[in-house]
Amino acid sequence: MVPYDQTERHTALSSQDPYAAVFSCRVLNWFDRYGRKDLPWQHPRDPYRIWVSEIMLQQTQVNTVIGYFERFMQAFPDIASLAKASSDRVMHHWSGLGYYARARNLHQSARLIMQQHQGVLPEGVDCLQTLPGIGRSTAGAIRSLAFEKYAPILDGNVKRVLARHFALSGWPGRSAVLKRLWQLSEELTPQQRTADYNQAMMDLGATCCVRSKPTCDSCPLEMSCKARAEGDVSRYPTSKPRKSIPVRAIQMLVLSDSGGDILLEQRPPSGIWGGLWSLPECPVEQSLQGWCLDELGVGVGEARYLPPRRHSFSHFHLDITPVLLEVKNPANRLMDAGARVWYNLSQPDDRGLAAPVSRILQEINA
Ligand code: ADE
Repeated sequence: MVPYDQTERHTALSSQDPYAAVFSCRVLNWFDRYGRKDLPWQHPRDPYRIWVSEIMLQQTQVNTVIGYFERFMQAFPDIASLAKASSDRVMHHWSGLGYYARARNLHQSARLIMQQHQGVLPEGVDCLQTLPGIGRSTAGAIRSLAFEKYAPILDGNVKRVLARHFALSGWPGRSAVLKRLWQLSEELTPQQRTADYNQAMMDLGATCCVRSKPTCDSCPLEMSCKARAEGDVSRYPTSKPRKSIPVRAIQMLVLSDSGGDILLEQRPPSGIWGGLWSLPECPVEQSLQGWCLDELGVGVGEARYLPPRRHSFSHFHLDITPVLLEVKNPANRLMDAGARVWYNLSQPDDRGLAAPVSRILQEINA
């Protein structure tokens, strides 16, 4: 860490190690200049308003939350009024914000606070976490922002700032990585001005150290950021490992008639390539001749194989081997079942083709 200078002596450094003190000092100085200080839940700042805002902000950006928050506060100005309200009314005021379990949990928590905490939102991180919808980071945010007490936080934005600053490899969903991030957050969070520091870290992650195209030039931590020094901040945090997905293999039949037209079939409306036009598919383990006779009622000539190719979906890979086959007797029966057409490659129409089918047709037409 580059040593701090006179201009950075803003925060009391006493209770933190010097490295952490410099870190938090830079964050707080940035907060004083650029941090958000006029959000509706900050004025007046009371525990109920902070709690509701933190729940709304869990999956939603500040700008979207503001209007919902103000209307929610008009409808339910305190814990008692929220606890007494009907579910329908609470859901009505949440409608459009999404992730509705948050609203159900908030409502249930209000009732629990009335029954078990004499209507007063608890201050302790452990106690807060017993309420539905409040995890460790939200509990830390509520404790620090609402009660001005020391408590570290670790939401998605803070994870990103810390993973980059310390060039911490490994997906934060892994428990060892998460544990290290919490440890860093605990060590770096100052005992004084914890609320401002936590707000600043969240704001920094939301406005400067964003996931793609971060604006490092305006970051107060740029000079000590290890990811920046490595030259590629986008490597952190490490993304979730891609789970291995199954592979399916098929043969796509490019059946041509004597005029060179190609047989296309329309896919069923749901499923992959729903409603698009595609080629008949024959399972790899079946004989082509037998399948064509059984399924299409046609005889076919010698098979010519094109190179196999992979088409990937989110949940499986499809290995496609195109097979060129000439139809010997393009009988009427072929056109009876389902939606089929003989497609003229030299006069293509504008029907929607599945992407790999369109590439195969271009290849054979080249
Ligand atoms: N996300 C969660 N809590 C937040 C807060 N207090 N400010 C900005 N973004 C947040």
